[in-house]
Amino acid sequence: MFNTMTITKAAGALIGALLLLLLANWAASGLYHVGPAGHGGDEEHAQAYSIPVEETSAEPEDDAPALDVEALMAVADAAAGEREWGKCRACHKLDGTDGTGPHLNGVVGRAVGSVDGFGYSDGMTSHGGEWEPEVLIRFLTNPRAEVPGTKMAFAGIRDPQAIAHLIAYLEQNS
Ligand code: HEC
Repeated sequence: MFNTMTITKAAGALIGALLLLLLANWAASGLYHVGPAGHGGDEEHAQAYSIPVEETSAEPEDDAPALDVEALMAVADAAAGEREWGKCRACHKLDGTDGTGPHLNGVVGRAVGSVDGFGYSDGMTSHGGEWEPEVLIRFLTNPRAEVPGTKMAFAGIRDPQAIAHLIAYLEQNS
């Protein structure tokens, strides 16, 4: 399968080969050039062979993709979310009691870091705002990026649609 690296390498090799060919061509035409232009001609040749190098390293994955949260939530399925919940239940409960993490029943729309008596990290208490779906998706994709210094030891879920399912499940169990 071709990945970006392979394509970049292939493009590099191709450009390298082209460059050699053009250089050889340029040297040859320099040798055999018999026109009246003299040295001026050489400069023209140099210009003629300048190669526009296209930007080959554009990797869409590096840019945070614009998430259409509404579209994700529109097809969110609580039953599918229940399966994702298996990744959370070791630390979170839905019955109003706290474990390693604060209870998550009612978390959608709840103020960030607002469960009384739970010992949040400084990062969490200073985050501000509410757990709207968009914020939850950002946090659950990469907890440490959204809440620097969070003590939630969780790597994150790559697929935003899976997180949307999970949010639907949390809403249903609030
Ligand atoms: C290893 C334990 C652990 C796992 C697994 C875990 N969490 Fe957490 N979670 C925590 C801890 C601890 C906190 C408090 C973080 C802080 O204060 O920085 C937290 C905080 C949260 C908060 C903020 C709640 C609030 O009151 O502001 C949300 C939302 C959350 N977790 C969702 C989830 C979801 C959804 C999953 C599963 C995909 C999950 N967590 C998996 C431990 C965990």
